[in-house]
Amino acid sequence: MDHGTSDQALEILLSRYEIEQRLGQLASEITKEYHGRIPHLVGILKGAWVFMADLIRHMDIELTVDFLGITSYNSGTNSSGEVRITKDLDTSIKGREVLIVEDILDTGRTLKYLQDVLSVHKPHNLRVVTLLDKRSRRIVPVKADYVGFEIADVFVVGYGLDFDQKYRQLPDIHVLRAEHSR
Ligand code: IMP
Ligand code: MG
Repeated sequence: MDHGTSDQALEILLSRYEIEQRLGQLASEITKEYHGRIPHLVGILKGAWVFMADLIRHMDIELTVDFLGITSYNSGTNSSGEVRITKDLDTSIKGREVLIVEDILDTGRTLKYLQDVLSVHKPHNLRVVTLLDKRSRRIVPVKADYVGFEIADVFVVGYGLDFDQKYRQLPDIHVLRAEHSR
């Protein structure tokens, strides 16, 4: 793929095959937990939709889905933790077994905000699945119930994740680095 005038370098961190394999394992962990119940998956837009679309196709149980759109006020590659809702939920989560589907946990500020906002609506329980976890970057002590991959402190794009709204369509997850030697 041609990235035009970009002065950034991409390097594969997790291939589509590794992701696919891990999703199968994650889905079976999750379906075991919710056996006989109907989880309500809330995907966080935009980063998590590719992950969620693949994950639910591994989940052989009854489930429902909804999406919550948020925008973080980011400065470059750092989240400020200030979040604005751009798309609200379509249906009530009251009494539901809610599973938040996130792309990546970094400082934890966004997830903390989401947990606070969603628990006000009194779900029966509220769990979290995140594809990626940069545990070493945590500032707010939150934790996901299910984690696809723990990764180092690098900035990643692809498979739904963006930098400046770019790279979401890449099938693999890449580390994005500014290129100095040209
Ligand atoms: P947190 O609030 O610092 O945990 O940041 C979480 C949000 O920041 C994620 O939902 C992403 O939107 C964004 N983010 C954090 N790290 C990365 C990354 O490496 N690549 C792309 N987006 C990221
Ligand atoms: Mg996100």
